[in-house]
Amino acid sequence: MSKRFLNDDFFESMESSIIEIKDAESLPPLCYTDREFFEFEKEAIFNHEWLCVGRTDWVPNKGDFFTTSIVNEPVVVVHDRDGEIRAMSSVCQHRAMLVAEGSGNTRTFTCPYHHWVYSLKGDLINAPAMEKTCNFHKEDSGLPQFKLELWHGFIFINLDNDAKPLTPRLAALEPILANYDIENTEGPDADKNIKYDFSWKVMFENNNDGYHANRLHHGEFHDYIPSELAAFPDELPEDTAGYFRTNGTLHKDASFNPTQKALMPVFPKLNEEERNRMAFANLPPSLSLVLTSDAVIYLILRADGPESHYLDLGVLFAKGAMAEPDFDVNMEQVIERALDINAQDVHVDEMVQIGLRSRYAPRGRYSWQEGAQRQFNTWLVPRYRALWEQMKAKQDKAQ
Ligand code: FES
Repeated sequence: MSKRFLNDDFFESMESSIIEIKDAESLPPLCYTDREFFEFEKEAIFNHEWLCVGRTDWVPNKGDFFTTSIVNEPVVVVHDRDGEIRAMSSVCQHRAMLVAEGSGNTRTFTCPYHHWVYSLKGDLINAPAMEKTCNFHKEDSGLPQFKLELWHGFIFINLDNDAKPLTPRLAALEPILANYDIENTEGPDADKNIKYDFSWKVMFENNNDGYHANRLHHGEFHDYIPSELAAFPDELPEDTAGYFRTNGTLHKDASFNPTQKALMPVFPKLNEEERNRMAFANLPPSLSLVLTSDAVIYLILRADGPESHYLDLGVLFAKGAMAEPDFDVNMEQVIERALDINAQDVHVDEMVQIGLRSRYAPRGRYSWQEGAQRQFNTWLVPRYRALWEQMKAKQDKAQ
């Protein structure tokens, strides 16, 4: 990696993105556009943080699997014969064909190219016509395994086998999530592999930006969830893996659909306070949750380059909601509104990405209603800084 701009000045300049919101400014624009920075970011974040890749209800039965990828790493997640959910590389250890595509149910993964066969645990169990090959041992050629952790029904993997567990570092989010009982929700199939040509960070910031809510989406889309009622928690624990904000609503049980009120059953454990606000929980770099009285919207972001990412978008409802007689009709209304709001967001995100490439791209100042952007910066910058310090130490040692 060359160090065109990776230097002490560059990382020191990021300090102004994590100070108090009244004084803070956004990150340097090249953090959103530059290939070299993305390679740095992969090591600072994606190679060591927990990455959400899906939900347990995508693989309910033994033999069920789905494939995905993040930072161009092909992954297969499978519910194995012992009932365990595991994640592994889908790259065949012969000549790198992918042993699985899409999703389905299977007893083994047979590579279509030369028919090497892997068990659902990733062991290589058959490799035809390899008996004359010297020093070839099937047990050395299993599919590489990823660390995996489950959290509220979400499946997280880690590309770093020494990574610290995720769940203990999410304690700050538990009080906000508890009454939605997300583990016991249900929902229609997620809309997967939506490709966007803008940075994963632009998407992450937009998902959680209360400042634009009743401005970009003014009118019937969002006025009942006004930016003025945004609230941000006091300082979160330093090692937290996620953060959240809340936003008050102008009426109880507000929800995103043309009626502006819950159409699906309200999550039964929610208290009065929770029914009069929405909450936004974020687990960078890959999961963003929008919590309303009758729906939990989840966005799984899968970066594949500095200026592009894939999105898996799903919605969860209280148990039993999908059996309600009006479910399909109500769902149509939810989708209609979601598409309208999403079209406005995506247009802005695409234009922001163009703006970020400009020589005039700013390090912009924040409104108090953008506290979540500072929260995001506070999550990112120490991780960038830590890798930079490691790189410098390594360099010093080598000299
Ligand atoms: Fe998979 Fe050859 S690449 S069997």
